[in-house]
Amino acid sequence: MTATALLPFPPDRSRGGGWFGRTRRSWADRRADREHEQECWAFAEHLRFVWRDACEGVGVSRTTDTATGPTVRTPRVGRIVVDRPTTVLVELLPGQEPQDLSRVGDRLAHSLGFETLRVVPHGGRWVRVELLDQDPLTEPFALPRITVGTCQDPVLLGRDEFGDALGHTFADAAHVALQGQNGAGKSQFAYGLLAQLAAADDVRIAGSDITGLLLGCPYDGTVHRPWQATGTADLEEHAALLERLVGVMDERLAALPDRVDKIEPSPAVPLFVVVVEEFPGLLRAAGAMPKLGRGERSVLDRIRAANLRLLSEGRKVGFRVITLAQRAEAEAMGGGYARDQYALRLSFRVPGDSLEMLHGPAVRELAERHATAEPGVAVLSAPGRDVVRVRVPYLGAYAEYCDRIAMTARKEP
Ligand SMILES: Nc1ncnc2c1ncn2[C@@H]1O[C@H](COP(=O)(O)OP(=O)(O)O)[C@@H](O)[C@H]1O
Ligand SMILES: [Mg+2]
Repeated sequence: MTATALLPFPPDRSRGGGWFGRTRRSWADRRADREHEQECWAFAEHLRFVWRDACEGVGVSRTTDTATGPTVRTPRVGRIVVDRPTTVLVELLPGQEPQDLSRVGDRLAHSLGFETLRVVPHGGRWVRVELLDQDPLTEPFALPRITVGTCQDPVLLGRDEFGDALGHTFADAAHVALQGQNGAGKSQFAYGLLAQLAAADDVRIAGSDITGLLLGCPYDGTVHRPWQATGTADLEEHAALLERLVGVMDERLAALPDRVDKIEPSPAVPLFVVVVEEFPGLLRAAGAMPKLGRGERSVLDRIRAANLRLLSEGRKVGFRVITLAQRAEAEAMGGGYARDQYALRLSFRVPGDSLEMLHGPAVRELAERHATAEPGVAVLSAPGRDVVRVRVPYLGAYAEYCDRIAMTARKEP
């Protein structure tokens, strides 16, 4: 759906100089201003006129039976300012919330001749509806050269539709799930996160990466590398690594002092960020290994069990799992219980059913549009936060990621 830009354009004031030119211009400008005002007024009237139908069409109106037959009520329109963006003050119907409009925002905007809209609470029952002729997340933005010194500082996750930065503090007890089709921007996003975190001296970037791009080589010679398993040549190495992490977790759990239920990460007791790139792929590869003798545990079982333990018990003692998958189906994520452990969830471009699977039915209205989202555009949900669409920062070429890690990550003593 494309917007039909009916919006009147402000008058053009770039004409010739000189005395005569200036006099003629001031006269012509005044006339142009008057005409522009009239066009804006007419456009605002047009919006008032189509608003009612648009609301009925997308189901945010209410029908009541009166003595003279059914009456349709729609959210009342107040002041309209025709500009870029055009804004419409709207009084919600009793019982309506701003989300009731934003949920059907795209369809409502299309009915009004725009591409999309934002709903901003204005005061009382009034909201400001900003009509946009372009998706505010269209513009990519580069990841600035920022690093955090400690996991207590927030890393940049992205920008929402209002251009506001969204951060996340890894000291907060949340595991992170990332899903998205091939090429939707998961790895790029993870590059950005890790590039921000690698310099923190109370963080170890650990994990399993069968692609060998996200972890591995870029970390050679740093304090993080001993905690990483890469490639598919030796899958047993991945199981052993995850078990080694579980071992550290168990030591920390056993050493928790009385009357204390969590540790504060420090350089001596660092926070482990356990990245699992393409987790379903790891499980598939492990599942395809030859059968073992009786009584021996398969690599697949070992990976599943270690992953589940890190997810369910690691939060208190400084373990944060970041799992990347093309589709976060329960089975592919190590079971429904394992999947429930992720508090911070981001979906890059995915089909509608996958989106709903990870974020719940509230995202149904976003599904169709998100199925064709550009790389780097994600739907984000976290406890205590409304579901938001975000644009995540773009780090650039892979070499840039390698350079940033080489430059900032602490070297092995
Ligand atoms: N945030 C972003 N902004 C702009 N382009 C991006 C962004 N993230 C990814 N891309 C583009 O999409 C391509 C695929 O991204 P990638 O992270 O490798 O996807 P995935 O890991 O989901 O398969 C990148 O090479 C890049 O060209
Ligand atoms: Mg990838």
